[in-house]
Parts: sequence; structure tokens; C-alpha cells
Amino acid sequence: MANIVVVGTQWGDEGKGKVVDVITPHVDVVVRYQGGNNAGHTVVVGREKYVLQSIPSGILHRGCRCVVGCGVVVDPGSLIEEMESLVQRGVTLDGNLFISKNAHLIMPYHPALDRASEAKLGKRRIGTTGKGVGPAYVDKAARVGIRMADLLNEPLFREKLELNVAQKNRLLREIYDAQTFTVEEILNQYLRYAGWLAPYVTDTALLLTRWIDSGYKVLFEGAQGTMLDVDHGTYPYITSSSTTAGGAATGTGVPPTRIHGVLGVSKAYTTRVGGGPFPSEMSGAIAEHIRARGNEYGAVTGRPRRCGWFDAVVGRYAVRINGLDTVALTKLDVLDQCETIKVCTGYRYRGEILTDFPEDETVVGEAEPAYEELEGWGASTRGAKNEADLPAKARRYLERLEELLGVPFCLISTGAQRDETILCEDSPLLRWFPSVRSSLL
Ligand code: GDP
Ligand code: IMO
Ligand code: MG
Repeated sequence: MANIVVVGTQWGDEGKGKVVDVITPHVDVVVRYQGGNNAGHTVVVGREKYVLQSIPSGILHRGCRCVVGCGVVVDPGSLIEEMESLVQRGVTLDGNLFISKNAHLIMPYHPALDRASEAKLGKRRIGTTGKGVGPAYVDKAARVGIRMADLLNEPLFREKLELNVAQKNRLLREIYDAQTFTVEEILNQYLRYAGWLAPYVTDTALLLTRWIDSGYKVLFEGAQGTMLDVDHGTYPYITSSSTTAGGAATGTGVPPTRIHGVLGVSKAYTTRVGGGPFPSEMSGAIAEHIRARGNEYGAVTGRPRRCGWFDAVVGRYAVRINGLDTVALTKLDVLDQCETIKVCTGYRYRGEILTDFPEDETVVGEAEPAYEELEGWGASTRGAKNEADLPAKARRYLERLEELLGVPFCLISTGAQRDETILCEDSPLLRWFPSVRSSLL
């Protein structure tokens, strides 16, 4: 029995969707514990490409139970669209999808506030996805948020909505000079959503605990990444939720004592979308090359992703903050044509080399990366299925990264397809899910 967390170790888009999809056949339940439709988790199955936003990536496996936990913020319109699109593509949701009564709702005024606030921040703008995720978490912390259960209780929903619309309209009009909302319009629209979603809404914390009691294996699917965590990320250039492993407990109601391991997902290099410090960022031709080869454009917003070298300072920080047991390394194939490959092993700051990620925003902003250079392998690793099939120099790169991180790799991904995946020798995944060997070899 193993319940494990899969978490991004960088600034998101590490390939969590693919890794979750590969592990799903070995678990019974996949649960999202934070974030909302700011996430874009891509899963490629043959010629089909799915981008999951609020629904766990496990949904593509028939029979896998998928839960949207209490820590997630749900935009009901966007969720219903996602559900309809999956159903049209032959995915079964009834009996497989469960939404927490306590999940907070993204209301129409949240994206409006998100955009208005970004516009006001000027050069300090965060570069959010504009989905209203930040303002929805603001309301949750301010104790004026509206939850899934409220949506199913019309008088209560109306009362909370009236309070919020009055407050948000003042904010939109007087602070941001932006468009306002009417209660009736939102009410009508959201009551239609309520009818749609009601069959899926339940006490998911209770359900998850019962399932675990009966021996079901649960995978907690993180969204975003460690460096976007509200507490541990590069504040204020972060998202507004607990993206790190600790969030898995609070965002689901499953206690930490019932979680057995944490798997981090890292790219073989680094990307970031939006503003904020990025010490190992590349520029010029190499950045263009990686962006093109890795198709580094946002799955949700289409924005070009900023690209950089692998940052072992960030990697070690992710190991520490999440207590990672192991790392799945993705997109190794994207580096195939690089003559030399840099790895950031420390930050130069005022004559010192820092090897622990600094907490201070100004230090991160000023830090210069200290690089180690490795020779590229100049051969295709695309679709490799065994470590032995990799060029010696690619294996050397992997060994060096493992050494710098201090934890073993479990999977190496060499393409977007399910079977473009290497199961590492002595992979910690085998300890949790022995059946992985037969499915990946
Ligand atoms: P997530 O948000 O962490 O799930 O990651 P995204 O889906 O936003 O971005 C990862 C992208 O890389 C997706 O388009 C995946 O299909 C793709 N991908 C995942 N693993 C690999 C890999 O090993 N090689 C290549 N070339 N693409 C990959
Ligand atoms: P997945 O789950 C990459 C970034 C945004 C912005 C910051 C805040 O696909 O890895 P928000 O809309 O959350 O308030 O934006 O966080 N961001 C992501 N970057 N991948 C994501 O999700 C992200 N979700 C949010 O670009 O910098
Ligand atoms: Mg993504």
C-alpha cells in the first residue's frame, strides 16, 4: 500500500501530467489538492492530446477515481467545459469524479480582479494566468469565499453572493475603474452550474479516508511547482496556493501520517512563465532552440515560456522542502542537440557562493549563477526505453544531476508519449508499486 504525492520541483510545467498518467494504472485514486484552472497538465495518448486543468490527469484511465480536493479553487464554468470535452472524447466521468463540498469557487469577479490588479502593478506585475485563482484564494483567507456546498444551497448562495458583489463592485469601480457585476446575472448562471455539478459534489475528505482504510492507493497530483508555492516560492512572484507536498494533506483532509512518499518531477532544464527571478535563465539562440525543441509555450495561455539551464540549487531546495524520495526527470530528449550543457550548481552573491536557495527576494534577484559545463551527447534519446540505450554522455549528465540532488531518479522521460519512458534501475517507484516493472519494461 502506498499513497504518494507527485509534485513539481521547479516553476511548473515539469511534465507532471505525463508522469501522473504513467503511474495511474498502479493506483486507485488520483486527487488534486490545490490550484485551479491555472494548471495545464498535458497527457499525450497516441495521436490524442489532452490538457487537464481542474480534473486530475488520472481521469484518462478507465476506473480510476478522480477527486478535486478542498484545497482546489473551482471555476464551475471552466470545469463543466472540461468535463463536456472529456465526455465527447469518450471519457467516463460518472462514478469516477468527486468534487469536494469545501472547494472554493472562482466567481466571475475573480478573473476581473486578477486582470485589474495585474494592470495596476505595472512592472511588478506577476504575469498571472488571469483565471482569478489569486483573488479566489484571497476570499478564502478573508473568510468571505463561496464554497461548492454553498452553491447547492440557493438561499445561502444568494446571501453570500450579495455580500460579495457589493464589496467587489466597490473595489472594481473605485480602486480599479473596471466593469462591475450584477447579482441576478451571476445567480442565474451559477444556479445552472449547480444543477450540473450537484451529482459530483460530496465530502471527499471522508471518502478518501474510507478508501485508504479499505486499501486503495491514492496519488496526490500537485499543480504548479515548488518555486510557485505561496510560502516557499519566489514570493511575490508565485501562485496563491500550497503547491508543495505539505499542501497534499491540508488540500484533501488526508492526514500526513497516511502519506508514504513524495515524488518530484523536474525537467532536464528549467522553464518559467510569468515574471519573477530566474537565476539560470538563458538568452539568445540557445533559449530559442530549447523553446522550439521543447515546444515551451504555455498549455493554458499560449505564452512563450522563459527557458533556462537545470538549476541544482532549486533542485536541492525542492528535495528539502518536499522531502522528495525520488525525482522523475522529463524532456531529456530536448537537450539532444546541445553541444555543451550547463548546470547551475550555486549562486554567486557578493563574493560568496550560495548553495542553499536564499529566502531573501533581493538576494535571489541579484544572484548570478555559477555553472558547471558538461559535454552534450549529440545523439537522439527520443523514445529511449532503457538506461542502457542512452548515450554515455547522457548517462553522465543524469548521474551528475542525481549526485547534485542527492536523491535517485525513478523515471526518465524521453518523449511526450506514455511509452517514451525509462524505468530507472532500482527505481524507488518499484518499492511503492512493484507492478510498475511489468508495465514499463
Ligand atoms: P505539467 O503542467 O507539469 O503537466 O506540464 P505541461 O503539460 O504544462 O508541459 C509539459 C509538456 O512537455 C507537455 O506538452 C508534455 O506533453 C511534454 N512532455 C512531457 N514529457 C516529455 C518528454 O520527456 N519529452 C518531450 N519532448 N516532451 C515531453
Ligand atoms: P502547471 O500545473 C506554470 C504561474 C503564472 C504566474 C504565477 C501566478 O501547468 O504546472 P496565477 O494565475 O496562478 O495567479 O499565476 O504562477 N503559473 C504557472 N506556471 N505552470 C502552471 O501550472 C502555472 N500556474 C500558474 O504564470 O507566473
Ligand atoms: Mg502545465
